[in-house]
Amino acid sequence: MERVGILTGGGDCPGLNAVIRAVVRKGINGHGYSVCGFRNGWAGLVENDTIELTHENTAGILHRGGTILGTSRTNPYSAGDAAEQVKRTLERERIDALIPIGGEDTLGVARRLSHEGIDVVGVPKTIDNDLAGTDFTFGFNTAVQVATDAIDRLHTTAESHHRVMVVEVMGRDAGWIATYSGMAGGADAILVPERAFDIAEVCSRIQRRHDSGRTFSIIVVAEGAKPKGGALVAHEESDAFGHVRLGGIAVELEKEIEQRTGFESRMTILGHVQRGGSPTAYDRVLATRFGVAAVDAVSEGAFGQMVALRGPDIARVALDDALREPKLLDPTLYETAEAFFG
Ligand code: F6P
Repeated sequence: MERVGILTGGGDCPGLNAVIRAVVRKGINGHGYSVCGFRNGWAGLVENDTIELTHENTAGILHRGGTILGTSRTNPYSAGDAAEQVKRTLERERIDALIPIGGEDTLGVARRLSHEGIDVVGVPKTIDNDLAGTDFTFGFNTAVQVATDAIDRLHTTAESHHRVMVVEVMGRDAGWIATYSGMAGGADAILVPERAFDIAEVCSRIQRRHDSGRTFSIIVVAEGAKPKGGALVAHEESDAFGHVRLGGIAVELEKEIEQRTGFESRMTILGHVQRGGSPTAYDRVLATRFGVAAVDAVSEGAFGQMVALRGPDIARVALDDALREPKLLDPTLYETAEAFFG
């Protein structure tokens, strides 16, 4: 009987539990495997912190947000001999194949382990939807829905108070959440990391809109959006993968817009609300398909790969290809959104 290990790494994401449940269900019932869960991402492999996953302890989790395994941004390749400890844990636990669920960082560690002889099958996860090789990652649909609901609510209060509302959503390098939620929520401008914005131009759009009789505006901004010639609004700390903590560009925008246009402005930072709570039906189904496909890939020895959504189908993509570069916003999609600006 084969033994499969599973872990969830990086920022959490609605749908993680659906993947865990699917791996356990298909792994045990379909393939006769046993499934070992590692707690808190790669930290669980460094520290040998495990839990035996069964039908019983993975029942009733399909609709639950977060991850029953816990997560972390631990990078075993950035700390001493932690990567060797990971390998020792895999041996000690007699793991035949590992299924890491994560974004570019978690899967980057998986790819490196795969090059060093460990059998891995990755599952792509991020609310940012910026992983190449897959049309969508699970969690993205939920984050977009949360952001759209928030924009709808901000719309009515903006209208009543005749204000400019600046809504900051997640999206470190890619403006997928901003563009989808901005389009769905009827935003008057969407600012994304892929296109540096000109604050004067944003303000003159708002001005033109208000000159033509509208009394409020909604601006959606991705946390990673950058002003032309300006610096990124970032905190000092960075994580084990070297990412600086983002968040706060809406604070600057609120001030700048009010000062330049004279219109009363308010900002809202949605932050981790976008990552919390129950996954949408779409994400539950996608996550379930990914989990089943990952354990099937293990049974066929398709290692060093990641399961992916390609059109209507679940496919396999080499981790090397998926991680070559991030998947940035489709310019055509942005141009479609732009037709509704101002
Ligand atoms: O998972 C990606 C992401 O949601 C980014 O959009 C965001 O910058 C980051 O995670 C926030 O991470 P943390 O939970 O460490 O604050």
